[in-house]
Amino acid sequence: MSVIRTQVGIVGAGPAGLLLGHLLHLNGIDSVIVENRSRDYVIDRVRAGVLEQGTVDLLKAMGVGDGLERKGLRHDGLYVSFQGERHHVNLVELTGGKAITVYGQNEIVRDLIDARIATGRPLYFEAEGVSVGGLESAEPTIAFQHDGTAHEVQCDFIAGCDGFHGICRPSIPDGVLTVYERTYPFGWLGILAEAAPSCDELVYTCHARGFALFSMRSPQVTRLYFQVPPEESIDNWSDEAIWNEMLTRMTTHDRWKPNVGRIVQKGVTPMRSFVATPMRHGRLFLAGDAAHIVPPTGAKGLNLAASDVLVLARALKSFYERGRTEWLDGYSDTCLRRVWKAQRFSWWMTSTLHRFPDETPFDHQRRIADLDYLTSSRAAMTSLAEQYVGLPAEVSFESVGLSAP
Ligand code: FAD
Ligand code: PHB
Repeated sequence: MSVIRTQVGIVGAGPAGLLLGHLLHLNGIDSVIVENRSRDYVIDRVRAGVLEQGTVDLLKAMGVGDGLERKGLRHDGLYVSFQGERHHVNLVELTGGKAITVYGQNEIVRDLIDARIATGRPLYFEAEGVSVGGLESAEPTIAFQHDGTAHEVQCDFIAGCDGFHGICRPSIPDGVLTVYERTYPFGWLGILAEAAPSCDELVYTCHARGFALFSMRSPQVTRLYFQVPPEESIDNWSDEAIWNEMLTRMTTHDRWKPNVGRIVQKGVTPMRSFVATPMRHGRLFLAGDAAHIVPPTGAKGLNLAASDVLVLARALKSFYERGRTEWLDGYSDTCLRRVWKAQRFSWWMTSTLHRFPDETPFDHQRRIADLDYLTSSRAAMTSLAEQYVGLPAEVSFESVGLSAP
């Protein structure tokens, strides 16, 4: 068996694990990243698209923002559409200058893998049988097989960045975690289409047939979603049926609608709100989707993964540089304050914009009134805008050795 010694063992090479590895590297802290999928699989997985202002600033301050600056699409506003009308929300004006940027998660992951490889620090893909042990000891371990050889990583700390279906959270003994959960009676059918975006900002639509979302990935690629039953099979939807439903829900009275093009990727995603607390057990720290999931309506998941690892990097830096443990001890509470506000926002966006199967005519009218108020009150739009561009992180960039934006 090969034994590898490091300071921080990281399970998972998604946004959380890769960002943490790079933040630690910038602070001279060693890490080993262990990922069970292949490099291509991790890069090709189509997921998030919207980055909060703070996430954009963080990527740039970390020196991994070149692709983002070249290819990211900055959006100063968004539209909320209902009863056939699009209503504009000017994010920049309402937040004193903050915006969001559309840049695919797969691009971020690609940039971060390149940055990791350039550091020469270890990153294992296609690790098999990954397990964690000794969580309550001073030297926890990650065990796995790679290319037919058994490996053990001996660490000071383990970061569980292995997403919702990973092994870190289930390795915490029964009875330690409290789980808060809500599943929604719908999912999203999402497509990528070779069609130029017909609008330069996102359009969130509430339609009598259900929610729909217009987004994009590049000046040539449109990303669209609509609400479907949670167990819906993608095989039930021909490309023609998908376009009919998209156009029915999204076309507005002024004849705005998405451009139609060849569908190059399609899939159905379930919707869930989930929080496991505390986000730490012994020397294992959970970050990102391993600890919490939000429904995608608020576009918060990747952004929360980034804010968690910022908090964790500060705590680890303070431990290694000054021997202090109070920020490690405060890790879970600090993260959860931001996580719960994003949970609340994502639940509110989801409940307001989607049609629930048991919705009464009263519920429907109340949702329309909610949207009417939202789009006609500057106070309500400001509340949406400041949450959509991202509430402030409690941790400064300087505390992880980065320059302030
Ligand atoms: P993941 O990205 O899940 O990464 C975990 C990694 O761990 C994976 O690479 C996985 O292969 C690996 N892993 C799993 N098990 C093991 C194991 N046993 N051993 C080793 N490695 C393991 N968020 C936003 O902020 N904005 C958006 O616009 C947005 N849109 C979304 C749209 C959709 C359709 C979906 C599904 C999600 C969206 N999200 C969005 C959420 C976002 O994609 C996630 O929150 C984000 O990927 C979380 O990053 P993570 O690193 O915590 O977890
Ligand atoms: C996306 O572009 O994939 C996207 C945009 C906004 C969301 C969710 C997903 O709320």
